Amino acid sequence: MKIEVINSVNQIKNEFLFDKTVVVIDVLRASSVICTALFNGAREIIPVNSVTKAFSATHKRNPETQLVKEELLNKNNPYHNNWALLLDTSIKKDNLKKASKTQDDYLLCGERMGFKIQHFNLGNSPLEYTKEQVNTKIVVLTTTNGTTAIKKCTNAQEILIGAFCNVDALCNFIKNKRNVCIVCAGSDGQYSLDDALCAGNIISILCAKKPNIELTDEAFAHKSMYECIPNEDIHALLKKGCKHYSYLEENGFKKDLDYCLLKNTCPVVPVLIGEKIRLL
Ligand code: MLT
Repeated sequence: MKIEVINSVNQIKNEFLFDKTVVVIDVLRASSVICTALFNGAREIIPVNSVTKAFSATHKRNPETQLVKEELLNKNNPYHNNWALLLDTSIKKDNLKKASKTQDDYLLCGERMGFKIQHFNLGNSPLEYTKEQVNTKIVVLTTTNGTTAIKKCTNAQEILIGAFCNVDALCNFIKNKRNVCIVCAGSDGQYSLDDALCAGNIISILCAKKPNIELTDEAFAHKSMYECIPNEDIHALLKKGCKHYSYLEENGFKKDLDYCLLKNTCPVVPVLIGEKIRLL
């Protein structure tokens, strides 16, 4: 087996992924959300990289959503393709409200700047994705980095979703793969320590299972860093050096941090099949 690591959305080169098993990680919080939603019974997740596309993903079943989509895409509309401005116009607010009432089996979900998007059903806190909320639902998810990373890897042989919450299940599934590329979504196009530590955890587990794994220098660095965490205290390290951890803590998402750093709470292996993420 060979393992390499990509450190942020900006470093993804889709054309080099065709023969690889890709594991997309966004510990804080998109990949933790995806694992949690599927573990709690969501039928599938549709990752999309814009709010407009989130509405498009449901429009076939919801005429009001189609109406809003047409307004967003209408070049004569001064708010063409500008969701934020359209949202601010009072004239359109009624349509937007109606559009967010998707058919019963769809949930519009995601965040911008960490917060739930106005009129969406759920934000990007894994704790929102309870059985009561998501069981049998189709989750349409748009997040700043996580879903963007997934959408940038479509050339890969296979695309899996990883986080601390499914680390053992994931490693068992990929331990016999030939070519593994761990894609850390990062934060705002940059390296983010939470994803790097999770990548290190995955590599460390795989190396313990299998001798002779070939690691790139970066993959070796991630593994070494993970294995050197003082007192195995991931929280303490992230508190010191992870900007997105601090941002979420300062903005009231402390419980998400606790949840996302727990290991093996969702023993599932989410896989992207076509446009949808499902369980194997
Ligand atoms: C992202 O995709 O950028 C994150 O999941 C952001 C967040 O923590 O909500």
